[in-house]
This record gives sequence, C-alpha cells and structure tokens, in this order.
Amino acid sequence: MRATVLGAGSWGTALGLVLADNGHQVTMWDIDTGVLDAIAATQENTRYLPGLPLPPTMGSSPDIGTALAGAELVVVAVPSPVVRLVGQQAAPHLAQGTWICCVAKGVETDSLKTMNEVLEDVLPIPMQPYLAFLSGPSFAKEVAQRLPTAVTVAARWEHAARRVQEAFATPVFRPYTSTDVMGVEIGGCVKNVIAIAAGVAEGLGYGANARAALVTRGLAEISRLAVARGANALTLDGLAGMGDLLLTCSSVLSRNFRVGLGLGHGKTLEEVQAELGQVAEGVVNARSTAAMAERWGVDMPISDIVHQMLYRGLAPADAVPLLMSRAMKPERY
Ligand SMILES: NC(=O)c1ccc[n+]([C@@H]2O[C@H](COP(=O)([O-])OP(=O)(O)OC[C@H]3O[C@@H](n4cnc5c(N)ncnc54)[C@H](O)[C@@H]3O)[C@@H](O)[C@H]2O)c1
Repeated sequence: MRATVLGAGSWGTALGLVLADNGHQVTMWDIDTGVLDAIAATQENTRYLPGLPLPPTMGSSPDIGTALAGAELVVVAVPSPVVRLVGQQAAPHLAQGTWICCVAKGVETDSLKTMNEVLEDVLPIPMQPYLAFLSGPSFAKEVAQRLPTAVTVAARWEHAARRVQEAFATPVFRPYTSTDVMGVEIGGCVKNVIAIAAGVAEGLGYGANARAALVTRGLAEISRLAVARGANALTLDGLAGMGDLLLTCSSVLSRNFRVGLGLGHGKTLEEVQAELGQVAEGVVNARSTAAMAERWGVDMPISDIVHQMLYRGLAPADAVPLLMSRAMKPERY
C-alpha cells in the first residue's frame, strides 16, 4: 500500500516507521521543509527521532500534491490546532476511497469539534466513511524503537477501523478496533490536561497517593464528559482512556506531564514552554476542556483547576486545598 504521512514530527515519523516495517511505501510531508530535507539527505529524522535510521521505503516530499499522489492511506499527524488547515490543503489531492487515519489528539478551541468532526467538515461527504482515528498509550520514541505497543483504531464504519488496523499491525504494534470515535477522541484529548495536574503534583512533592487519586478521579471526569457527548463509558476503561491516561500521568516522556512538573517547581508557563521547545497540547486542550465542561454541563474539577493554573493565575500550591475542600460526595455521581 502507498501511505502518506502529513506531519513529519515525532509521532508521524514513528507511525511512518510502523507502516514501512509492514511493507508499505511511505511518503512524509510537513510544513517544515528543513525536517524533510534532513530525511531526504540522511534517511533519518534528525530533529524529532535522531539516531533511528529510516528504511529506503520511507521518503519525503515538500509538495503536498506530490506527497499525496497515489496515496491509499493518509495519516494526519500534525498538532490538533492545525488539523483543519492541513485537512483543507489535503482534500483536493485525495482520491475517493483513500483511507484517512487521524492521530492528532485534541478538540478545536472555538468550535469544540473533535478531530474527526473537523475532518468531516473539510472532506467531501463520500470520503467521510473512510475516516479513522488512532489513539492509545503510545510514546513515539518507544514505538520507533519497536517496543511493544497497543492502541485503538476507532471509526464509525467498522470496516474502516479494520482496514487501518490491518495496515498498522506488526508483531510489536497491536491495534484494536472500536466504533466509539467520540469516546476514543475525548480520552485522547482530556488525558493531556490531567497529565498536567499529575506533573504539578509531582513537582510539588506530593506522593504516590496523590497521583493515583488524580488518575482515578481524572478518569471519572473524562468519562462523564465523554458520555455527555454521546460516548460509551466502557471505551474509557480501554487503551484510549485509562491506558493513555496512565501512560501520560506517569512518565517524563510526556510533554504535558513535564509542563505540570515545571509549574509545580515554580516556573511560569512561558518558561516551561520555552524549555520544552515542542508542542504540549494539554495547554491548548485545557481551554477546550473547560469550554466543553461548561457547554455540556459536566463537573470536571481537576480540568478546571488546571485551566485556572494555566490561564487564571491560580498558584499550584493553592490547587490541592481547592480540590480537597470540595463538597463531600459519593464516588459515583
Ligand atoms: N509524540 C507522541 O508520542 C504522540 C503519541 C500519540 C499521539 N500524538 C499526537 O500526534 C500529534 C502530533 O504530535 P507530535 O508529537 O508528532 O508533534 P511534533 O511537534 O513532534 O510534530 C508536529 C509536526 O507537525 C508539523 N506541523 C505543524 N504545523 C503544521 C502545518 N500547518 N502543516 C504541516 N505540518 C505542520 C511540525 O512542523 C512538526 O514536524 C499530536 O496531536 C499529538 O497529540 C503524539
């Protein structure tokens, strides 16, 4: 199969490697031609995955039309805030029947649309059944190192999920399928916000009890929001919910966790982001999550606290007393 990956960052390159390992011919495209030039010159993504050689079946093109010519599978691996733009640029070059797999995690800040809904907006109606969404506990670096990983591929049309599952399945990369696109997308978006809270707790020196409480209560509020938006609560018990949340809240490989860690250490958001030098989508997702909680009338105390820390000047040290002093309630409500 000919596959094109839009976004030659960490995750796009790691997934390109999975596809190449599976025997597919892969073309990478990105707005940053420097990254593409490096791939062409060295067969390595020196910026995002240095030291990992890319096979000869992985190439690159700076022209989106050339990159998409003849593509049977397109992976959308740009940050969520630019998925609409990249989808609009790609749409005129896509042949009917091309499988489209979005791997960006997030919800549009203004429209509160998920990435699947954003792509449905910009793609012609006959192409929409071919859309799938891949998510789950998967650090790009570990995938690129061929460490065992399991993910979920969700699509409204089950056949699309199965087709994308087949394209990606290798002995070390195991995709499961789901038809609950909303559940998988909300899990992937909001876990980034909870990861910031977990990083803050770590930075403040709180212990393992606090982290376990944040993960568990974080999952409870993610599930409440997902169900309010039409998802199946059971989806959030799976790889794209609990799985991804556990991963993101427990490793400094997560950019979102590192943002929280920096805030907990007393740095400003600007300082932390400058040090990171890469996208930490939880910072954007915190805005969309707060807006979703309001629009769908869902109680999301941890996400609300993160939003207040990022955008309303709440000091990290004041966050826990706020959470702990909320009205007592049953565990499930
Ligand atoms: N890194 C991971 O481990 C990981 C795992 C799962 C999912 N994701 C998701 O994958 C998406 C991409 O993350 P990443 O880690 O690869 O980010 P990254 O910052 O490593 O790479 C993003 C790439 O997108 C490119 N880009 C930005 N704006 C663009 C535009 N307008 N047009 C074309 N290209 C553009 C950048 O130049 C960069 O090469 C995110 O939504 C993230 O949540 C990442």
